[in-house]
Amino acid sequence: MSKKIVVLTGAGMSADSGLKTFRDENGLWEGHDVMEVASPHGFAKNPDLVLEFYNQRRRQLRQAAPNKGHEALAALESHYAVTIITQNVDDLHERAGSTEVVHLHGELFKVRSTGNPHLVLPWKEDVILGTKCPEGYQLRPHIVWFGEEVPLLPLAANITTSADILLVIGTSLQVYPAAGLLHYSPPGIPLYLVDPRPTLTAGDFPNLRVISKTAAEGVPTLVADLIRKAV
Ligand code: APR
Repeated sequence: MSKKIVVLTGAGMSADSGLKTFRDENGLWEGHDVMEVASPHGFAKNPDLVLEFYNQRRRQLRQAAPNKGHEALAALESHYAVTIITQNVDDLHERAGSTEVVHLHGELFKVRSTGNPHLVLPWKEDVILGTKCPEGYQLRPHIVWFGEEVPLLPLAANITTSADILLVIGTSLQVYPAAGLLHYSPPGIPLYLVDPRPTLTAGDFPNLRVISKTAAEGVPTLVADLIRKAV
């Protein structure tokens, strides 16, 4: 039976596809304070701003394409059982061909009803005040905002406990509960971190290898190495 690889990805995974990370520009995200555009409080205060912010993100994502890092992770599936747990709301893993992707923080190409949280719809277009679900409630981005519960966390934790190898790519590991997932991995399994400005150093975990490269550079080499080890 193939070994299980669990991959935890963050904004750095998609940086080489032209999508900006969150914490590389003094806490500003495309010029906005993240709490103003990514919190229930921000949405209540200025829904137009928040909806337009996500409209821009959706437009930007329609123009973006997976990078060599995303593609390499998809290729890993021919030799391992792979599950990607991503903090990213883009669909670049899926577009690259990965088949098991858990979106911890939601998905940009989905919206949900503000009156019925179970009513989630695929959506690639703009949403404005007045864009409503079939039940007549305002639509909002299907995104886990700061201060909101992370519904897929128990699933992600459970998947992480089953890992034989853990890859962590392009995340500052500053945002909990996602960052805490590392601690669910079985102690001592091989752990690889790919990030040009890594926040872990060898010794933080018993079997950690830090690869200080971008995702598009570092992931294909790492994947080639893992595939060699699998055969
Ligand atoms: N390749 C790989 N990693 C990169 C690259 C790149 N080209 N460029 C930057 N990075 C790294 C940075 O060094 C940093 O460690 O990506 C990481 C990005 O960190 P953050 O911006 O904090 O993103 P992330 O960890 O995904 O943030 C977590 O915070 O704002 C919330 O919900 C949002 O999901 C997000 C969460």
